[in-house]
Amino acid sequence: MSEHSIQRPGPAAGGMSSTEFRQAGHELIDWIADYLEQGVQQYPVRSTVQPGAVRQAIEAGCPGPQDLPETWDAVWADVQQHVLTGVTHWQSPRFFAYFPANVSYPAILGELLSAGLGVNGMMWATSPAATELETLVLDSLVDLMGLPQHFKGAGVIQDTASSASLCAVLCAREQTLDWDGNEIGLARAADQGRLMVYVSDQAHSSIEKAVKIAGLGRESVRIVPSDTQTFAMDATALSRMVADDLAAGRKPAMVCATLGTTSSLAIDPIAEIGRVCQEHGIWFHVDGAMAGSALICPEFRHLADGLDLADSYCFNPHKWLFTNFDCDVFYVRQPERLIRTLTIMPEYLKTAHTDDVINYRDWHVPLGRRFRSLKLWFVLRLFGVSELQRRLRNHIEWASQFAQWVESDDRFELVTRPSLGLVCFGLKDRTNDEQEALLNRVNETGRVFLSHTVLSGRYVLRMSIGQTNTTLEDVKLAWHIITDAAGGS
Ligand SMILES: Cc1ncc(COP(=O)(O)O)c(C=O)c1O
Repeated sequence: MSEHSIQRPGPAAGGMSSTEFRQAGHELIDWIADYLEQGVQQYPVRSTVQPGAVRQAIEAGCPGPQDLPETWDAVWADVQQHVLTGVTHWQSPRFFAYFPANVSYPAILGELLSAGLGVNGMMWATSPAATELETLVLDSLVDLMGLPQHFKGAGVIQDTASSASLCAVLCAREQTLDWDGNEIGLARAADQGRLMVYVSDQAHSSIEKAVKIAGLGRESVRIVPSDTQTFAMDATALSRMVADDLAAGRKPAMVCATLGTTSSLAIDPIAEIGRVCQEHGIWFHVDGAMAGSALICPEFRHLADGLDLADSYCFNPHKWLFTNFDCDVFYVRQPERLIRTLTIMPEYLKTAHTDDVINYRDWHVPLGRRFRSLKLWFVLRLFGVSELQRRLRNHIEWASQFAQWVESDDRFELVTRPSLGLVCFGLKDRTNDEQEALLNRVNETGRVFLSHTVLSGRYVLRMSIGQTNTTLEDVKLAWHIITDAAGGS
């Protein structure tokens, strides 16, 4: 039998024929473009469904998997009828909640190509291009963002900042235990003294989660106070806490500074914190999940002064660099420490190349990995740096305009100075319940979606400007809706 006469499963075998795939694929691309340009605006930004309603509607409306294959048209009709109502529209230009999780056309094409190629780039040998493109793209980001040069050849794409921070905690644990934790287990290594991890009271919860996963126990997390105005970590208090722990025989293992906290985008004093870490040989991780993207603009690079002292650093292009979720970039000063922490070498993963290539399987928790660098590469090439800068500068400029509107309205006040694209604000002299009620009224319009936080015990509204397609008109509309909802407060 010649190679060409081999019978492949045809449409009768289910799935989709190539003809059906092409047709549905073209239609789906058109639908996505229509959705992003216009369609998204026809839905309430935040889904209004009640818990359980989506599942109930799907179960009632769709027959469920059948013995015989169904048509794409039938499945797609159910998506439109039953699924879209249960979607919160993160790609609405009027999505101002949390931090954005942006998409863009170049990134969607990158995702599509990654899906089509379907490679598992766990090792260089399992898809050399997946490894080499990733290293190349992350090296180019070092120059584009003014990051420390020693991060070149030392970056890896992870799914999320939470995973990157987990890797940092694991490295810190192993470094502090002289790589004994992996060998003899934490129970036996315990006589070396309790390992401590320091974060500010504004740090993201993923660090505490990482500490728990790493087996250090939540009690190992030292909460360093932050400044009551800026919400940035108090480096002097950190220094004192480290000294106290050392004096008590505990082992400071890691400090995590945040470049842009989740609540208010506060910027921890990275250089000062880095010096404390340097003095005591503590692993220094910097979490720049959201604000890290701002470093593509030279005028914001001073925010990361001292980053050259970091042992590891991560930021999320999937938040503010128009790259589809998921895509976190993680750099380590010395990749050999990360590899030493995570390496495994079963027979079935041995290849001819170990020392002369990067095998990213040892740079994160999962073994398998998607070809994520494609979408980031497409974004960088198809937007171009100046367009990326222009969009970020717009967001930041509009946040500052929004802050001025807040300040010039007697009913409102700023709770912190605006930071990059985020404004934290609220009603003057009102209770937390009243602030919350205002936010509910705003979101119930369905026309915009904002979220909240609590700063120094005060309920605060967050206006987070950063969605790919947001315009100044959308920001003005949000302010109009907010002031309307506030009425004569
Ligand atoms: C500062 C900070 N760190 C970490 C995270 C977690 O990000 P991810 O969902 O990528 O784990 C967030 C999420 O908003 C964040 O703001």
